[in-house]
Amino acid sequence: MTGENADNSNHVLEIPEGLRHLAIIMDGNGRWANSRGLRRTRGHKEGAGTVRRITTLCAEAGLEELTLYALSVENYVKRPRHEVEFLLALLKRFVIRERATIMDNNIQFRTLGRTEEFPRSVRHELEKLRDLSSTNDGMTLRLALNYGGRSEIADAAKCIALDVKEGRLAVEDVDEQTIQDRLYDPLMPDVDLLVRTAGELRVSNFLLWQISYGEIFVCDTYWPDFGNKDMTQAMLNYGSRNRKFGGLVRPVDA
Ligand code: FPP
Repeated sequence: MTGENADNSNHVLEIPEGLRHLAIIMDGNGRWANSRGLRRTRGHKEGAGTVRRITTLCAEAGLEELTLYALSVENYVKRPRHEVEFLLALLKRFVIRERATIMDNNIQFRTLGRTEEFPRSVRHELEKLRDLSSTNDGMTLRLALNYGGRSEIADAAKCIALDVKEGRLAVEDVDEQTIQDRLYDPLMPDVDLLVRTAGELRVSNFLLWQISYGEIFVCDTYWPDFGNKDMTQAMLNYGSRNRKFGGLVRPVDA
């Protein structure tokens, strides 16, 4: 049933020049399930399959950084408990089952967010895969889990306040780099392209600091159906953008 519209035939994705970091808001699992008269959890299960397919596709294409929004801080507290528990169990199973996918594709696996609040057995599997894959030097896959862009910036602000209070940092030295250095993953580069599935035109508290100059691509496809065709469209669309970073496209525009 998965990927009916996805065209997941053997296909090598071409990563456009300048696209180093792709971040995806994976939306529409619930709608995918509802439209088929299935439970929402079934949509999440299919969505986990899409995570595997897209991760492999991107790694094979030579993408450097892929960050997927798997659970927001808001999802974690506002969704019914049984759905959150299902998602955590699915995540744990995914991390165990996809160990070979991660290792075979030379992927470095990391997480982003307040995973310390997760049950110990889930944390254990996440940490195991992170450690196992830590010396892989292909694509970096980050799962944003119990993640919020505002929480990340608030946590960084707390670190700065503490450093100032304890004399390690002078107020006048605080700049953008000071904040960057205290984000959850300070070495993670800015997002070049943010893709959102299922049609909503919002960023939903995802990587607020890192998307400042990111390009945005939204498609209507629900995440379980997201595949090669949508990815190719996103890549072509990105390739046609003129990124100005607040400047001018060509000096001659002046
Ligand atoms: C949004 O769809 C999706 C989520 C809140 C969870 C994302 C989870 C997955 C893609 C599967 C599990 C991931 C891993 C890494 C194992 P929604 O349920 O809000 O959809 P809706 O807006 O249509 O209701």
